[in-house]
Amino acid sequence: MAKKVMIDCDVGVDDALALILAFQSPELAVEAVTGVNGNVPLDNVFTNIQKILSLIQPKKRPLIARGAAQPLKGHALYAHSVHGKTGLGEAKIDLKKGEEWWTLFTGPAHELITKTARQYPGELTLIAVGPLTNLALGLQNDLEGMKKLKGVVIMGGAIRAGGNVTPYAEFNIYVDPLAAKMVFESGLPITLVPLDATHQVFLTPRWMDEQVSPLHTPFSNFVIEATNYNIETHRFKNRENIFLHDPLAVGAVIDQTLVKTERFSLQVETKEGEYYGKISETEEGPKINVCLGVDVERFLKLFVSGLK
Ligand code: BDR
Ligand code: CA
Repeated sequence: MAKKVMIDCDVGVDDALALILAFQSPELAVEAVTGVNGNVPLDNVFTNIQKILSLIQPKKRPLIARGAAQPLKGHALYAHSVHGKTGLGEAKIDLKKGEEWWTLFTGPAHELITKTARQYPGELTLIAVGPLTNLALGLQNDLEGMKKLKGVVIMGGAIRAGGNVTPYAEFNIYVDPLAAKMVFESGLPITLVPLDATHQVFLTPRWMDEQVSPLHTPFSNFVIEATNYNIETHRFKNRENIFLHDPLAVGAVIDQTLVKTERFSLQVETKEGEYYGKISETEEGPKINVCLGVDVERFLKLFVSGLK
């Protein structure tokens, strides 16, 4: 039986790739997709969710909901330099009126998360690949509903690796450290997929040339456009390779044997200053699973199989 999941995301190029992998995997049944402020403003995120669903055309239309437009505290911080103006790099997808590959949930994202968790008690895994604001709102508004989740798999943080926003902090945690602190201290069954693991999985020009470009599918074409890959010069615009942060979180749910985890408690720095958004090991607090190792080759094969 397929595992029931829902995905909270801030689409985002690698979020889009994570959605494609999830919907294309027979091992998963994606019940719902929610948006949160992050890589780009929430309006862009929500449009991008709809665009990616139009590209995927899922057999079972998921519920979708808008989430938080701002972090719990502080200001939004966008990553246009990585994800482009709209969040999908140079990919262009038209939304056609009357062709909706989703069902709109008119309440906020956190309500859809707890409603779906209550609908499938002990069965639903929440995959969170953006800032954790919607999850924190779920904890604040319906803790019992959140406790019905089977598990929460989060892409975020840097434990022993350096950060990607500051030398210490990773983007998803840095945008809303207060939300991250609430989530890590919640006692929910969490698996964290930090930069320590995601920096091991990336698309190189060689993978693009040998594994992605020859596929000629709507998904492989999307990867080329969204990552701004130039098939003639064999280069990504402005970067050496493309990290598959968010797809790895989906991969860890599809097949747990792809990652190696260790258990420890984590604390989040919420005070402004040099270490803002840094997460570190601590003696106190609930223990969570932290992915530190990845079977790189097997994960990349899984990722490419989702583009077929
Ligand atoms: C995370 O930040 C975002 O830019 C990516 O989508 C990913 O979720 C990596 O630090
Ligand atoms: Ca993301």
